[in-house]
Amino acid sequence: EQIEKGGYDHFMLKEIYEQPSVIRDTYRGRLLANEGIIKLGGLEEYIPKFINADRIIIVACGTSWHAGLVAEYIFEDWARIPVEVEYASEFRYRNPIITEKDVVIAISQSGETADTLAAIKLAKEKGAFVYGICNVVGSTISRETHSGTYTHAGPEIGVASTKAFTTQITVLTMIALKLAQIKGTISKSNYMMHLRELEQIPNHVEEALKSNDKIKEIAEVFKDASNFLYLGRGYNFPVALEGALKLKEISYIHAEGYPAAEMKHGPIALIDENMPVVVIAINSNHYDKVVSNIQEIKSRKGVIIAVVTKGDTVVREMADYIMEVPNTPETLTPLVTTIPLQLLSYHIAVMLNRNVDQPRNLAKSVTVE
Ligand code: G6P
Repeated sequence: EQIEKGGYDHFMLKEIYEQPSVIRDTYRGRLLANEGIIKLGGLEEYIPKFINADRIIIVACGTSWHAGLVAEYIFEDWARIPVEVEYASEFRYRNPIITEKDVVIAISQSGETADTLAAIKLAKEKGAFVYGICNVVGSTISRETHSGTYTHAGPEIGVASTKAFTTQITVLTMIALKLAQIKGTISKSNYMMHLRELEQIPNHVEEALKSNDKIKEIAEVFKDASNFLYLGRGYNFPVALEGALKLKEISYIHAEGYPAAEMKHGPIALIDENMPVVVIAINSNHYDKVVSNIQEIKSRKGVIIAVVTKGDTVVREMADYIMEVPNTPETLTPLVTTIPLQLLSYHIAVMLNRNVDQPRNLAKSVTVE
C-alpha cells in the first residue's frame, strides 16, 4: 500500500497532487487548442441531440452532483441550453417530466451509484437520450448510457472525491465549449481563448498546490472549530458546497456551503468570533458583491479565510487568512479554487487524526439505496 501511495501519506493527498496530470490526461487528444478543435469520440455523432434538446437534465450524487451544478452555469452561459441539476435519489422517485426531447447527463466517478443508475433507467424508459460521464471504464453506468465520455482520472481510492471532480468539470467544460461553438452562441475569439486557457489549467493547479504549507498553517489555527461556513457566488457557489462537503466527510466538522448572497437569509445569524467563514473571493463579476459580504461578516466578528486571485489587494486587507490561486477566466475558476479547499480539509482531518482515506460511515461507491 505504501508503494501505491507513491510517497504520500494518504491516497487523498496523492490524488489531490495528481490533478495537474490527470486534467491533462482528460483533455489529451481531445483538445487541440492551436487548431481550435475539441473532439470527444462519444459526443460527435450525438451533437444534434444536444443542440436540439429542450433542456439538459443532469443527474448525480455527492461530489459528482456538485460538478453538475458547475456545468449548469457553464452550459447555460455558453451553449444557451436550459439545464436542470437533480439529485438522482430525488429525481427517480419524483415522477419527473421527461420526454424524448430531453438529454440526460449522468455524472458518476464509480459508474456504480445505485440512485444514479436508477435515474438513468427511468430517463431511458421515458425516451430521453442519456449521456454518461464516468471515471471507471466499463462500469455499469458507462454501459447503461447511450454514449458518454470517460474522465481518465485513473483509480480514485480516497473516499472523498478530488481528482474525479476536477476531471468531470474538465469534460463538461469541453462539451459546453463544443456545443457553443457549433450553435454559434460563443464568439470565435472567446472560444479560442477558453481553449487555450483550459490547456493552462494544469499549470494553474500546480501553482495553487504550492500554497500547501501555508494552508497547513491555516488548518492548524482552525482545526478545533466546530462549525465552518463556506461562501461563493456564481461558478464558485458549487465550489463552496464542495469545500464544505470535503470538510464534513473527512474531518467530521460541521460545515455548510451557501451562495454568498443568501447568507443574509439565515447563516448570518450563526456568525460570531468562533465561526470561520471560508469565502471564495476571486476576480469575477461578483467580486464587489463578495467584498460587501465579507464586510458584513467582519462587522459581526466572523473570521475570514479567503480564496483570492493572486495579486489581490482588497480582500487581502480584509481577510484574516488568504489562500491564493492563479488568475484564470471566470468560467474556469472552479478548477483552481477547489484546490486550496481540498488541501484545507485534508490537513484539518490529518491533524484531528481522522481516517482520511476511509472516513467513518462513508463508502467510495454507494451501490445500495
Ligand atoms: C459516495 C462517495 C462520494 C461520491 C458519491 C457519488 O458518497 O463517497 O465521493 O461523490 O458517492 O459517487 P459517484 O461514483 O456516483 O460519483
